[in-house]
Amino acid sequence: MGTRRTLILWKRQVLVFFVLLGLSWASTDSLHYSVEEETEAGSFVANLARDLGLGVTELSSREARVVSDDNKKHLHLDLLTGDMLLSERLDREELCGSTQPCMMPFQVVLENPLQFYRAELHVRDINDHPPMFLDKEITIKIPESATIGSTFLMENAQDLDIGSNSLQDYSIGPNSHFYVKSHDNGNGKIYPELVLDRALDHEEESELRLTLTALDGGSPPRSGTTSILIKVLDINDNVPEFAESLYEVQVPEDMPIGSSIIAISAKDLDSGNYGTISYSFLHTSEVIRKTFDINPASGEVNLRSLLDFEVIQSYSVNIQATDGGGLSAKCTLLVKVLDINDNAPEVTMSSITKTIPENASETLVALFSVRDQDSGDNGKILCSIEDDLPFILKPTFKNFFTLLTEKALDRESRAEYNITITVTDMGTPRLTTQYTITVQVSDVNDNAPAFTQTSYTLFVEENNSPALHIGTISAIDSDSGSNAHITYSLLSTHDPQLALSSLISINADNGQLFTLRALDYEALQTFEFRVGATDQGSPALSSQALVRVLVLDANDNAPFVLYPLQNASAPCTELLPRAAEPGYLVTKVVAVDRDSGQNAWLSFQLLKATEPGLFSVWAHNGEVRTARLLSERDAPKHRLLLVVKDNGNPQRSASVTLHVLVVDGFSQPYLPLPEVAQEPAHDEDALTLYLVIALASVSSIFLLSVLLFVGVRLYRRTRAASMGGCTVPERHFPGHLVDVSGAGTLSQSYQYEVCLMGGTGTNEFKFLKPVIPSLQLHETSSNMQEKENFTDSLGFNIQ
Ligand SMILES: *[C@@H]1O[C@H](CO)[C@@H](O)[C@H](O)[C@H]1NC(C)=O
Ligand SMILES: *[C@@H]1O[C@H](CO)[C@@H](O)[C@H](O)[C@H]1NC(C)=O
Ligand SMILES: *[C@@H]1O[C@H](CO)[C@@H](O)[C@H](O)[C@H]1NC(C)=O
Repeated sequence: MGTRRTLILWKRQVLVFFVLLGLSWASTDSLHYSVEEETEAGSFVANLARDLGLGVTELSSREARVVSDDNKKHLHLDLLTGDMLLSERLDREELCGSTQPCMMPFQVVLENPLQFYRAELHVRDINDHPPMFLDKEITIKIPESATIGSTFLMENAQDLDIGSNSLQDYSIGPNSHFYVKSHDNGNGKIYPELVLDRALDHEEESELRLTLTALDGGSPPRSGTTSILIKVLDINDNVPEFAESLYEVQVPEDMPIGSSIIAISAKDLDSGNYGTISYSFLHTSEVIRKTFDINPASGEVNLRSLLDFEVIQSYSVNIQATDGGGLSAKCTLLVKVLDINDNAPEVTMSSITKTIPENASETLVALFSVRDQDSGDNGKILCSIEDDLPFILKPTFKNFFTLLTEKALDRESRAEYNITITVTDMGTPRLTTQYTITVQVSDVNDNAPAFTQTSYTLFVEENNSPALHIGTISAIDSDSGSNAHITYSLLSTHDPQLALSSLISINADNGQLFTLRALDYEALQTFEFRVGATDQGSPALSSQALVRVLVLDANDNAPFVLYPLQNASAPCTELLPRAAEPGYLVTKVVAVDRDSGQNAWLSFQLLKATEPGLFSVWAHNGEVRTARLLSERDAPKHRLLLVVKDNGNPQRSASVTLHVLVVDGFSQPYLPLPEVAQEPAHDEDALTLYLVIALASVSSIFLLSVLLFVGVRLYRRTRAASMGGCTVPERHFPGHLVDVSGAGTLSQSYQYEVCLMGGTGTNEFKFLKPVIPSLQLHETSSNMQEKENFTDSLGFNIQ
């Protein structure tokens, strides 16, 4: 086909050439014309009349006309002039497209006779079209990894013009990466080809915009442009990168669940998927997975469960950042758990001694350990007990403490201690734990029973009923239990005379004392014995006390007349000289009373006389004196009845009868002893002698001791002179009574105060010496006189 077309083309050219030579070769040869496209309508193309060699008239007469092959009226014939004109503007591109040359065949038809001529119109191209790219913008994606010299073929531009007016070349706007090469693919089309001149980097420049210009060969040349958008495709050439390889964060242990503790971030210079990082834990333990969470997109690490510093102090978490291309980097997150003082100190008792004997010194009471699970100041511990306790706290090894007694305790002062161990940590706020130990102090028999008094004085009326409770002694033992259980006992006395066990008994349990028999004051005025109180401790302790029993006198004895003896076979007769002056001492009645005190205060009274008024009796000393001168009328014999009364209650008395014989011419010193006086038996005489000797010796001893006593008293008095003299309190003593204490001692209620009265004073004399009533006293009046003279030189005052 191609060859045939070329051949036809060639024939036509020859023909055209022939026509142009001016040869009109009707009906056999075709006419050939040429016109530029886009010529104005009505433009002259050719004069057919001339070209066909016909006259103008002939043309019109033969109805000449132009008929296009395509039946379109591109041309018309002016029959008046024979000119063929363009009836419209011709567009070569429309008529022929890319076919060239662009021939429009037509016929010139003549009638009468019918004759036609073949002709053709060559529409010549003008550069009326610029090259045109089909797309206003072309996008090319080039991976950043493209090597230098890589070519990228692109859509060509199109130019409707043909020949040299068609597209000839491409050019590209200034840029640093590409140049353009025209590429003829052999079918007449020229393609632009981008050549990479310098390596691309997505991270540096992800897009480039170039202007591609297509140029045709017209004169002047026309051009068309398109914009090329070069998208530099990212390739995963960048590894994610963490800002730091080690992140460190401190988290207080009381951080609530769900809190964000840190946001880790890594950068990937790549974009898109390659630059999208997802975070994850790497090689993590179960514990870390339970404790932390990581947000894969944001890298935020959250708390999943509560931290506990006491269990784990720090976590080392490996975190991996992976981009969409699978490249990864890792970093380490070090989570340090900060201690919060959330644990109170704890006290663990290892051993406790709940009971301590009171005599133990420095005894271990408790061994315990303290601990605080917190650390730092929160775990520092202070351990203390109350100050005022006799216990000390001693640290031993590590966190162990011992609680010791400071010294031996005393159960009697305190039997129980509550020791509060206070353990405080140094955190903020301070946490405190208290532990109380109760220690009982056990009793040791360290206290002997103590009597409430060191000595007891008990009073018993004589003639008491047997088994009389006379008093109670008691002792107290401050120990407890059997150590304080007291047993009372009588201790054996040293006095061999005293048959204590027959006198007194004691109740061993309560210390009550009983007499075992009736006591007789006159036989036993007082006695002493010791009692013991013993506890039941081991060893037992005991103590003693002195008990003095004073028997109180009762008026159970009547006065006893010593002189004159009443049961003598011959009654005693006193002699009275008839010439005796009034106040002559006839005799003196001597009586004693075995009782004491008031019971022994005697008074004498004349009850009956033969001659009333002749004799008087001194009530307080029993002296019988004449009251007047005797006369001749007075009878020679007189009988006097005297009564001696004591001052007891009830009052007891004795009566005595006196015989007085009045004699004439009686001279006292030579007076022969009356018969009655001479009558006593020989043994009685001897007895009287002994009595006199005894009396003399007793008197001298008495005198001596009185002198000694007076000396001592004087000495003291001179020393105490500045303090004033001896005061002699008013005594209250019935003047008509004589105190004849039977025992020589007065009852305890009487106090002795003896003062030297400088020779003056009362003439009273009291018997203070023991009187033995069983003895028969035969005292003459001269004896008594002597005694009186002696006592006159001393003054006694007895209170
Ligand atoms: C404490 O008393 C008990 C009983 O009296 C005795 O056996 C022990 O030796 C005493 N201990 C000391 C330390 O005195
Ligand atoms: C010790 O504590 C106990 C129990 O709280 C209490 O009954 C007792 O009276 C306390 N003892 C002392 C000596 O405070
Ligand atoms: C007189 O009585 C006393 C005591 O009652 C007695 O000791 C003495 O023997 C008696 N004398 C005569 C002579 O009976």
